[in-house]
Parts: sequence; structure tokens; C-alpha cells
Amino acid sequence: MAEYLDRIGAGKILIKKEVFSFDWTPPEIVGRNDELRELASMFYGIEGQNISCKSVIMGPVGSGKTVLTTTFSKKLCEKLEGLRDITLTHVNCRNYSSTIQVLQRIATSLDPRHPERGFSSGEIIQTIRRNLLAHGKHLILILDEVDVLIRKDSSDLIYRLLRIDEGREEKGTISLILVSQELGLMGRFESAIVSRLGMSNILKLQPYNKKQLIEIAKQRANLGCRKGSISEEILEKIGRYSAVTGDARLSIEILEASIRRAEMEGRDEVIIEDVEPSEFRVTTIEPSQVDVLSKHQRMVLLGICRRLKKKDTVSSGDAKKLYMVVCEEYGVKAKGHTTFWKHLKTLEIQGLIDTKTANSATGRGRTQHITITNASPGELESRIEKALIRQ
Ligand SMILES: Nc1ncnc2c1ncn2[C@@H]1O[C@H](COP(=O)(O)OP(=O)(O)OP(=O)(O)O)[C@@H](O)[C@H]1O
Ligand SMILES: [Mg+2]
Repeated sequence: MAEYLDRIGAGKILIKKEVFSFDWTPPEIVGRNDELRELASMFYGIEGQNISCKSVIMGPVGSGKTVLTTTFSKKLCEKLEGLRDITLTHVNCRNYSSTIQVLQRIATSLDPRHPERGFSSGEIIQTIRRNLLAHGKHLILILDEVDVLIRKDSSDLIYRLLRIDEGREEKGTISLILVSQELGLMGRFESAIVSRLGMSNILKLQPYNKKQLIEIAKQRANLGCRKGSISEEILEKIGRYSAVTGDARLSIEILEASIRRAEMEGRDEVIIEDVEPSEFRVTTIEPSQVDVLSKHQRMVLLGICRRLKKKDTVSSGDAKKLYMVVCEEYGVKAKGHTTFWKHLKTLEIQGLIDTKTANSATGRGRTQHITITNASPGELESRIEKALIRQ
């Protein structure tokens, strides 16, 4: 057998790869308890036979809109078992982007034998309604990425779905959940739609913060990896890197890439050097940012990079010592304490390092904990070394 295939199936760290697929649905949503509670409040009374509810969920890419709405709706259906017969349909309007395609999709989800063509949208809406009434069912309809449909085909379908029971005896046919990345979604609707949706039924998801992103990565690590293979320090670094965008996919992606690097090296645990910012998603440091630095600023940064290749953070005290080692290596006299601090500040302002102040356990004054978020310390190191040689 070819040697390069040896590691496949070895699973030194990874035991369930599917956990890292973006289509995989986690058993629990983490870090969004308040939002779930708010969403639930929009569905109070849904157990009543004539009731339909509405909700609009907005948030940036990777803020958990899809997973939150689908998981919530599934759990809601389970909760209502025996009280009301609910059927759930999720349509991604990026894949079904015209009114007729969306309606066809809903109709076939209720009845797989529904003919594919030959009906107007008005006729399909009535077929959907008749079908639900005949089976005594209530439909929770999620229109995901609904902004794509609206941009392409107007908001007429939303209006018609909201009015599906108007002037009819039987009410409560459809509950509607609209999901959109576009925060200005409501501005695209005419007032008749806005008033039917209700301004209090809007849930805006914020980008995830570092703590939430750590929780998301931790959940995947616990469910997909061998115990003890991913330490808290690793998760902390992933949280920090992905907090730049607040996108949950980024934290999952960085974790998976780190695992791959560790396994490629034949290790059974991820080490701090395995965790690197995603090449495609995180804004990396421009070469010109190194070019504008003075010689000593570069040397301060070089010392920091060397340590951060191996550790997640470095204290300002250590950074000073590392800077002095670099000065020795390049045969130049190190600058004094005040100048060192000034350089540290400049590097921070330039966005090259991040610092957090902590009370020092020993000695006097403030200690800062330094990290690099926007770049891989290894890459930055070689860029600075090249620049120092040129000098
Ligand atoms: N709170 C969470 N708990 C666990 N996993 C999460 C959470 N939020 C998001 N994820 C995971 O992150 C990934 C992205 O989430 P999701 O697809 O729901 O984002 P989205 O807001 O719909 O993104 P888009 O705008 O691109 O449609 C999915 O794999 C999802 O399972
Ligand atoms: Mg989505």
C-alpha cells in the first residue's frame, strides 16, 4: 500500500468527520439561549387551532440563522405533538429563487405526487391550503435566504402567503419564518407586509463573540474528536481568530484544519502551531505594513512572532527579553524601556498585535498579554527577517 495513504483511516484525533460538515446539524445550539427564548416568545399560542405565527430572523453570514431556525422548529414540532399536527418545510430561496419554484417546492413537500408544472402560482397556493386543511395540518414554512427571492421576484409571494386565510372561515393555515442576511430586509417590504409581519417579530442575530465561538468549536471537538486531543488553549486561539468575523463556520473550519495538520504530522493532539488563521477569510497583514516599520519596531515584532509560533500569548515582560535577544542576534544595541513600550503601542495601533492588560502577579506596573490575530506568526516572522536583511 502507498505510504501516503497510511494516515487515512488512522483517526488519531478525528473520530467522526461528519461533525465538521457544515450540513451536519448539532444536537444543541450553543451560546444562543436568549435568542432562542425570544424566538419562542414569537410562537406563544401556536398550539391553538386557528393561530398562525410569524417571525423574521436577520443576521450576518455564519451567525447561525439556518441552524437556529431549523433546530427551533423541529423542537417546536416535537413539543406540540398531541396538541397540534404540524408539518415543517424549509425552502432555501438561493436554490429555489422564483415564486413558482418556491411554491412548487412547498407543494411537493406536502404531496410528492404534486405535478411539476402546469399551474399558476394562485392555483398552487390554493392546492397547498386545501392539502393542509384536508389533513388537519398546520404548516411552519421557513423561507431561508428570502432576500434572494425578493430581489429576483418581488415580495408578492410573502404578501399572498400572509393573506392566505383572509376572507376564509378556517384560519391558521401557515406560520411563516423569514430568514435573511440582509439587515435592511424590512425596508424592502410595503407597509401592508410590514404590518402583517409585526415589528415585534424581528430577531436580529449579532455576529458571534469569542466566547460563543469557543463554545461552538468545543461542541464539535467533544463530538468529533478523541478525548484530550484538543486543549482549552487551542479552543481559545480558535475563538480569537474567528472572532475577527464572528462567523461560526470559521471556527469550525479553523478547528478542522488544525486537526488535519496535527494528523498529517502523526500527532494525537493538536498543538498551538497547528492553529492558523484561515487563508481565505481573515484579512491578513499587508506586506507594506511591515515595510513602514522602523528597524527596532520590526525587531520587537520579530521576538513576539517567534514566541507566538509556539504559544498562544506572550507577556510584555517576555516580549522585551525576546526583543533583546533579537538585538543581540543582529548586533545592534537594544533601546530602553520607554522606547520599547512606544514601539509596542505603535504595533498595536497598526493592527499588527493585540494586547490585553492584566494585573501582574510579580513585579511592578502593568503587564500586557500580546497576541496576533490577523496573521500567522510564522509567516510574519519570515517576512520581517527578509526585511531586516534588506535593511
Ligand atoms: N449556536 C450554534 N451552535 C452550534 N453550531 C452552530 C451555531 N451557530 C452556527 N453553528 C454552525 O455553524 C455553521 C453555520 O451556521 P448557519 O448555517 O446556521 O449560519 P447562517 O447564519 O445561516 O449562515 P448564512 O448567512 O451563510 O446562511 C453551521 O455548520 C452550524 O451548524
Ligand atoms: Mg443560512
